[in-house]
Amino acid sequence: MATITSPDGTALSPLCFGTMQFGGRADEGESRAMFDACRARGLNFFDTAHVYTDGESERLLGRFAGAERARLVIATKAAYGGGAGRRNILSSLDDSRRRLDMEVIDILYLHRWDGDTPLEESFETLAELRQAGTIRHIAVSNFAAWQVMKAQAVAARFDVRIDMIQPMYSLVKRQAEVEILPMAADAGIAVAPYSPLGGGLLSGKYAAGGTGRLTEDDRYAARYGESWMHDTARALSALADDVGHHPATLAVAWCAAHPAVTAPIVSARSAAQLAPSLDALDLTLDADLMARLSALSPRPAPATDRLEEVTPR
Ligand SMILES: NC(=O)c1ccc[n+]([C@@H]2O[C@H](COP(=O)([O-])OP(=O)(O)OC[C@H]3O[C@@H](n4cnc5c(N)ncnc54)[C@H](OP(=O)(O)O)[C@@H]3O)[C@@H](O)[C@H]2O)c1
Repeated sequence: MATITSPDGTALSPLCFGTMQFGGRADEGESRAMFDACRARGLNFFDTAHVYTDGESERLLGRFAGAERARLVIATKAAYGGGAGRRNILSSLDDSRRRLDMEVIDILYLHRWDGDTPLEESFETLAELRQAGTIRHIAVSNFAAWQVMKAQAVAARFDVRIDMIQPMYSLVKRQAEVEILPMAADAGIAVAPYSPLGGGLLSGKYAAGGTGRLTEDDRYAARYGESWMHDTARALSALADDVGHHPATLAVAWCAAHPAVTAPIVSARSAAQLAPSLDALDLTLDADLMARLSALSPRPAPATDRLEEVTPR
């Protein structure tokens, strides 16, 4: 496995902070407070994307991170829109470097699979950027396992490799357990899963009548629209009461505990919201609590569909 460190050689922190709300639901003051809270708890790994908040996410992250750039790992993403062709990757990365005010990006993801562009074109471009030192690591997000391995084979032809993936993964989104996480462990690819709280569902607030992204954003309402997911969230809140932790702390710790996971990407719209997710840094789940948490949602069927051969998580 390629070891990912900051430019000064510091290992990745066990949580990453995602800046998707910077300049959107979090104004500059709240964004700064969250960045500072992350630094105070030792986080050195920050995630953004070209597409977030019309560039404000990258601009604010660059402003906060600039003074200690060498100690941080900065990941951004290209080609959410416009395809993973050469011209789009290069112009998107130019924008990102200018907004972040950084010469070098530590991790550049392809934001999603693009079945219309030959992988050779995308990975030849990424290899050039890597060889020029403009990016330090190549990564992909929202790829199926077969897509990662197909891309990895193409990358090898250009003497580079995919060092990290970013799948969705939480107690209510467990598909990654079937193929993606075992693949990553086997292939020595680091994993930074996103949405460990299910976009806020696992914070417990919806069961208490609260509002947030799931009531404000139709895409997220649909993504987390199945009634069993809300049952899981309610059961998590009850378990959290029982064991004396915030449900968000348990949800993040559960995600982090998967052996293939490198660093879940936590996020929030305020420092107050973020605190219970950061508390997962101090929580090690014992086998009993791990089993109780895993039992709160259906385990996805194994890739072979041979249920009798499954070993419990
Ligand atoms: N690669 C991709 O396609 C992709 C997709 C999504 C995210 N990401 C990355 O992953 C990061 C994290 O994703 P995410 O924001 O979906 O993570 P998440 O942890 O599942 O959800 C975070 C959201 O939950 C709510 N929340 C958090 N703590 C709370 C608390 N204590 N009480 C009540 N509500 C709380 C807030 O939303 P509200 O207050 O608005 O309800 C917050 O913005 C993003 O910033 C981004 O960097 C990547």
